[in-house]
Amino acid sequence: MKTILLTGAGGGVGTFMRAELKGRYKLRLSDRSPLAECGPDEEFVQADLTDMDATRKAVAGVDGIIHLGGYSVEADWDTIHTANFIGTYNLYEAARLEGAKRVIFASSNHAVGFHERTNTIDHTTAPRPDSRYGLSKAFGESLSSLYADKYGVESMCIRIGNVGTEPIDVRRMSIWLSPRDLAQLVCIGLDHPDIKYEIVYGMSDNARSWWDNSNATRLGYKPQDKSEDFAEQILATKTSDTGNLIGDLKQGGDFVTFEAVDDPFKPGLK
Ligand SMILES: NC(=O)c1ccc[n+]([C@@H]2O[C@H](COP(=O)([O-])OP(=O)(O)OC[C@H]3O[C@@H](n4cnc5c(N)ncnc54)[C@H](O)[C@@H]3O)[C@@H](O)[C@H]2O)c1
Repeated sequence: MKTILLTGAGGGVGTFMRAELKGRYKLRLSDRSPLAECGPDEEFVQADLTDMDATRKAVAGVDGIIHLGGYSVEADWDTIHTANFIGTYNLYEAARLEGAKRVIFASSNHAVGFHERTNTIDHTTAPRPDSRYGLSKAFGESLSSLYADKYGVESMCIRIGNVGTEPIDVRRMSIWLSPRDLAQLVCIGLDHPDIKYEIVYGMSDNARSWWDNSNATRLGYKPQDKSEDFAEQILATKTSDTGNLIGDLKQGGDFVTFEAVDDPFKPGLK
């Protein structure tokens, strides 16, 4: 059994992944805060990813890494810079120094959030971040590319939509990802023999999607869950998920409108 480091193991997605990946890998769980308990085939190594020595200790001896640890929504620059830029840099540098072969990077739909919902984008589409948070995910994707090309640290970046047991609103019907479908993508990322650097979209089988996930399909991904199964109940109560026109037009939803001005190109506006 491979030993896999799961950063951010105490978070929402980390908790889903522990359950989904049980029995498939030996999991080394890591977070900056202690976890309540470990199960069989699990161990815990506490590490703040901003601490390079602690990060190297967490990475030492693992075969692969699922990198979830960081700040998972929009925040001020210091918060995002520390957790997501420095933390992700340290994680990749530790992977290089400790010889970890493969990293799964939890990127986000917010790396491409300024694309219109009417545009179908794929893994070749350049980032259009909608926030400092989205920018940190675009940085992580570029960092992954650099560490693959220059140092042979292989990566799969998953532009995750929204992970949960069911989609929660209109926008999430396009980007929803069930925990078992995420686990399938993660296993492909960790075990596929030919991955050097790949971007895929983290979504289930969503009929209303604005993503072309053919790169995931090429790698063998067959999602098991469909957001359309929840459409009737969602559409019965909700039509707009952001409550504003711009947010409803853009893939990133209300992240696009945080701190936004009415017309960013108007002369004199800063
Ligand atoms: N939840 C989603 O639907 C979703 C969507 C897109 C991307 N993602 C990404 O997936 C990852 C996990 O998301 P989540 O919803 O579980 O987030 P979460 O906020 O629930 O969990 C994040 C975990 O990271 C840990 N962490 C934060 N800063 C750290 C640091 N400096 N050192 C070590 N650990 C640190 C936190 O303690 C927490 O346990 C995140 O990177 C997030 O950006 C999640």
